Amino acid sequence: MKHKVAVIGAGNVGASAALFLAERALADVTLIDRPEMEGMPQGKALDMQQAAPIWNKGGRIEGASDLAAVKGSDVVVMTAGFPRKPGMSRTDLLKANADIVRPAAEAVKRHAPNAYVVVVTNPLDVMAHLFWKVSGFPKSRVMGMAGILDSARMRAFIAMELGVSGADVDAMVLGGHGDSMVPLPRFTTVNGIPITELLPADRVAAISERTRGGGAEIVKLLKTGSAYYAPAMSAVEMVEAILTDQKRLVPCSVLLEGEYGMKDLFIGVPIVLGGKGVEKIIRLELSADELAALQKSGKDVADSIAELNVAV
Ligand code: LAC
Repeated sequence: MKHKVAVIGAGNVGASAALFLAERALADVTLIDRPEMEGMPQGKALDMQQAAPIWNKGGRIEGASDLAAVKGSDVVVMTAGFPRKPGMSRTDLLKANADIVRPAAEAVKRHAPNAYVVVVTNPLDVMAHLFWKVSGFPKSRVMGMAGILDSARMRAFIAMELGVSGADVDAMVLGGHGDSMVPLPRFTTVNGIPITELLPADRVAAISERTRGGGAEIVKLLKTGSAYYAPAMSAVEMVEAILTDQKRLVPCSVLLEGEYGMKDLFIGVPIVLGGKGVEKIIRLELSADELAALQKSGKDVADSIAELNVAV
């Protein structure tokens, strides 16, 4: 195939992303995990390769146990990381995942210096920042996945409530991928109809609240681990937009340099995502309340960056 995508981390998010990428016939896929897991990424990749004849599109899916296998990738999807375990503080998680992201970013810098990078590892705004900093890549080539996921959750909740197709629902969720994310009902429509025409304000507020807790709701149900199908699908949407130069207008976590009154941090804002990565940051005219909520979310991300001492 013309393109190569490397997925770092062969856990549930990474393996699901590899499968969706392969099924969309977007690229040859290399699924990478750490040396101690030798056999696991290879086994999952072989399983997927054996499914490929059924969807009839070809393409190679390989497993690897060495970060050098990112070599020659057009896009790298970074999923490796610990989920938060009981008793682990936020700072512990930050440090543990930073220790996974740093060597990955170094390997990508060395072996795939022209790659675009989609970071999924949590806390993803901070990990995207760290990846960008360690790789030294231009800001247009490193981005965090979350806005598409958080917006898709809001779209799904609205679709469920109204009994309509989620495909007809558009939603816009900005901010960091955390408790202070910012659903924007003002930019939420069902086939062009403002959500406020279809649902009372208290239901819209409840759906916004459920969206903010969307990840936690799944963690609670699963009891072990966190969501992976929707996160993986969201990352694959981004890869597809890059590889096929779709120029999607979607929220992604990107480096701000003054936009929305913030700088030196990654946070979810609407961008144009295409063959050159982050091609443009869209500046919306937010209301005072919306902007304050976005900046509060930015402050939370900035505090985490400060904890990790990766601030530029
Ligand atoms: C979620 C976590 C995994 O939102 O980021 O599902």
